[in-house]
Amino acid sequence: MLELGVNIDHIATIRQARKTYEPDPVTAAAMAELGGADCITIHLREDRRHIIDRDVRILADTVNIKLNLEMSIATDIVDIACQTKPNQVTLVPEKREEVTTEGGLDLVGNFDNIRAAVERLQEAGISVSLFLDPESAQIEAAQSLQVDAIELHTGQYALTDGVQQQDCLQELTLAGKQIVNSGITLHAGHGLNYQNVIPVARINDMLELNIGHSIIARAVFVGLTQAVREMKELLRIAESGV
Ligand code: PXP
Repeated sequence: MLELGVNIDHIATIRQARKTYEPDPVTAAAMAELGGADCITIHLREDRRHIIDRDVRILADTVNIKLNLEMSIATDIVDIACQTKPNQVTLVPEKREEVTTEGGLDLVGNFDNIRAAVERLQEAGISVSLFLDPESAQIEAAQSLQVDAIELHTGQYALTDGVQQQDCLQELTLAGKQIVNSGITLHAGHGLNYQNVIPVARINDMLELNIGHSIIARAVFVGLTQAVREMKELLRIAESGV
């Protein structure tokens, strides 16, 4: 079954705008779960601009579904992951000046450092996913690390339309085939919304989509549980082929 990971960083962004206690991402996680989320995704950034250490600790204790921690390979962040043991870590590149994650990891260019982080996480019993652009060389490099999953970066697909978007979809489909043929589980995310999610959800053997901004934006008007329910319904339609 195609699983929906709901990224709740944006709830924490609102809280941090006032450096207060509300809205609490812990409440958001429970509401997303009620709406049918299969996974809660959070990104502990090095500058703690939204999710903070306390959130990771409490969510690791209270989330009843899968908890996916997005993070860089910074040593102190890997330490926190090894202590709190989320079900899954997704390694992402991180730049302080970016508004959101801007591209996949450069696994080829930074192989030894990423391998060291992957090995520490695997030794701690955490399932590891790598956030990669749909590029053959990056996927090939991931094969030797025995990671559990690769999350394909759908940002370019989401930014384009028409023929360009079809080309991006084709690239994602080919990359997906390479990943699955390597025995690695296929995930995707970034920029997916209620209008563009279905073709990505229909890529063969897609197992998890991580979606944040569009769900939280809709939640402002319809509530988080309902916004998650509506996205889950689109994934069901994608799977059923209707
Ligand atoms: N996947 C990864 C690896 C991300 O970094 C993000 C953004 O935090 C998402 C998925 C969700 O992206 P969006 O908020 O655009 O849905």
